Amino acid sequence: MNTFPSDFVWGAATASYQIEGAWNADGKGESIWDRFSHTPGKIINNDNGDVACDHYHRYRDDVRLMRQIGLRAYRFSISWSRVIPNGVGAVNEKGIDFYDRLVDALLEENIEPYATLYHWDLPQALQDKGGWGNRDIIGQFADYTALMSKRLGDRIKYWATLNEPWVIAFMGHRSGEHAPGLKDEALSLQVSHHLLVAHGAAIDVLRATVRDVKAGIVINLWPSETMHNTEQELQIAHDMWQRDNAWFLDPIFRGSYPADVLEFYGARAPKILPGDMAQISRDLDWWGVNYYARHMIGADGPVPGSEYTEMGWEVYAPAFERMLVRLHNEYRLPPMYITENGAAFADVVEDDYVYDPRRVNYLETHLDAMANAIARGVDLRGYFVWSLLDNFEWAFGYGKRFGIIYIDFETQQRIWKESAKWYANFIRAHQMQPA
Ligand code: FCB
Repeated sequence: MNTFPSDFVWGAATASYQIEGAWNADGKGESIWDRFSHTPGKIINNDNGDVACDHYHRYRDDVRLMRQIGLRAYRFSISWSRVIPNGVGAVNEKGIDFYDRLVDALLEENIEPYATLYHWDLPQALQDKGGWGNRDIIGQFADYTALMSKRLGDRIKYWATLNEPWVIAFMGHRSGEHAPGLKDEALSLQVSHHLLVAHGAAIDVLRATVRDVKAGIVINLWPSETMHNTEQELQIAHDMWQRDNAWFLDPIFRGSYPADVLEFYGARAPKILPGDMAQISRDLDWWGVNYYARHMIGADGPVPGSEYTEMGWEVYAPAFERMLVRLHNEYRLPPMYITENGAAFADVVEDDYVYDPRRVNYLETHLDAMANAIARGVDLRGYFVWSLLDNFEWAFGYGKRFGIIYIDFETQQRIWKESAKWYANFIRAHQMQPA
């Protein structure tokens, strides 16, 4: 059995729009994901998050599940339009009450809350004014951050500003697969810049507001590996790393965009104002990596011998270890957490139980990779499985199940999977090890 430090944080992650439901309850405003999922043709099966896991009403049951699994930490996100229905101005106290109760319930069970301020559900009222494409978003996000950190900062120390700026910018504004569904490359690049400046502004707010704050950001990273290591494949892999990953890592951890990528985009590159790069590259107390799979360049179809998830993502943990070590070697980084990692498989319920050995194998091999990376010097402090519950998987709707707990979306019954039981045993065993 691989060893982890005894204070290693074992958790699970979710996001507001994917689990809460209650899309217009108690004064919540419309978000871009409400609008998008209510637009026919955007989501497989025209699914939407109106009810999702009904976590808004069932959070106590879900916190009980977390305790049964033995989680030490829970990563969730706050729905901006639930607490400020129009994005700016009037506060919805009932919305804040929900997060108040959730945090209290977590703390009662000794589960450390990790709050993400933005996991994609922008208030529609702000989108109507240009959303992340309008520079005003920086101040609006800072004000929202101030509100939440003042209300919850006495109990929440761990804050993340954004979840996956790459996905927000490029799937929301370039490919249009996600809300707000725009297809404009220059806009998507300007959005990525506004996201990063807003992140930095929110970091300043968190520092000013929360005593002993642990302020960070969550970034999704896909490494590219090559099939035949030809010069051409290696060049493609390099370019993809630069444009997808370094485009976010460099500004945050080095204070500058990668020069080759700026040159590549030319006139489409974002407009950067004086002071922006210093604002973006504020010191962080931690950062989160969401890791699912690698890209394989030069593979004409599936990689021979490899297994694939329901998302079509390869199961291959050695690439995870290599990427963690690479990050450690190339950047000066604050402590790192894996804030999402997991797999979707076609789960089947039998006798009120789901036997999901493939998910167990995915988790086991990826935890092994982490242990190896730690042994090689990577400062990794915690792990959050994606996800606690099956949930609304964005453009894929409810068809892709990532949970370690199964949800029957007809009855809202929560059903244990083997992977949840396995994770519970794993956590118990590792917490008993001497430091
Ligand atoms: C990540 C998202 C998360 C979930 C997983 C599968 O990109 O952050 O909400 O959808 O993918």
